Amino acid sequence: MSKKTFLPIVLFGLGAAASFGQDATIKLPPPQKTGGMPLMEALNARKSTRKFIKNRPVSDQVLSDLLWATWGFNREDKRTAPTAVNAQELDVYVLRDDGVWLYDARLNSLLRVYHEDVRAATVIDAVPQPFAADAPITLVYVSDTTKLPPKIGRPEWSLMNTGFLAQNAYLYCASVGLGTVVRGSFPPADLAKAMHLKETQTITLCQCIGWPE
Ligand SMILES: Cc1cc2nc3c(=O)[nH]c(=O)nc-3n(C[C@H](O)[C@H](O)[C@H](O)COP(=O)(O)O)c2cc1C
Repeated sequence: MSKKTFLPIVLFGLGAAASFGQDATIKLPPPQKTGGMPLMEALNARKSTRKFIKNRPVSDQVLSDLLWATWGFNREDKRTAPTAVNAQELDVYVLRDDGVWLYDARLNSLLRVYHEDVRAATVIDAVPQPFAADAPITLVYVSDTTKLPPKIGRPEWSLMNTGFLAQNAYLYCASVGLGTVVRGSFPPADLAKAMHLKETQTITLCQCIGWPE
């Protein structure tokens, strides 16, 4: 290959890598950890919502606050939700119209793991819930059971642990007027495939979130 042909190919490759790198990570604004609705009022407002304004996005600030409330670090190595033996085997994925994103709580960032909108893949025929494909955000709670301690760790711990995260998200949503509903009626294998998860990863719950109609 001549130098003349080689140089444009290299430059194109670098450009493509740079632009992929740019939109493959979103650095979220720092979460606001003070103020907000008093806890007793948030508990009083907590409820499930199944009607969302399709085209009203959730801002990066609100998303940052939501994700921190759900599963952020509130101490050096511990989080807003407890896990059995502090295994922290759960990951929170964010499904949006621009793809599948993994919440990195340490970096306070979203890392894109797949570029397609897979929200519709959370719905099963037996429980038709079309709002799930329209809600601006679906959180997907995913357990990596290889992170549970061998001998004593039980997979059902991940279901229990998920409940704490989901309730954190419920209460945050109640506190800012976001609508949300958890959904256990999703197709585990098909959704895992659509999200390009690894074999060691198991989806425990989905949670639709958006501004209520
Ligand atoms: C584990 C679990 C799974 C659920 N799955 C679904 C679901 O697939 N679809 C749905 O619309 N609501 C689902 N819900 C929400 C419940 O229907 C809802 O919490 C219940 O009706 C009480 O309403 P509230 O949350 O407004 O108090 C689920 C709730 C839990 C705790």
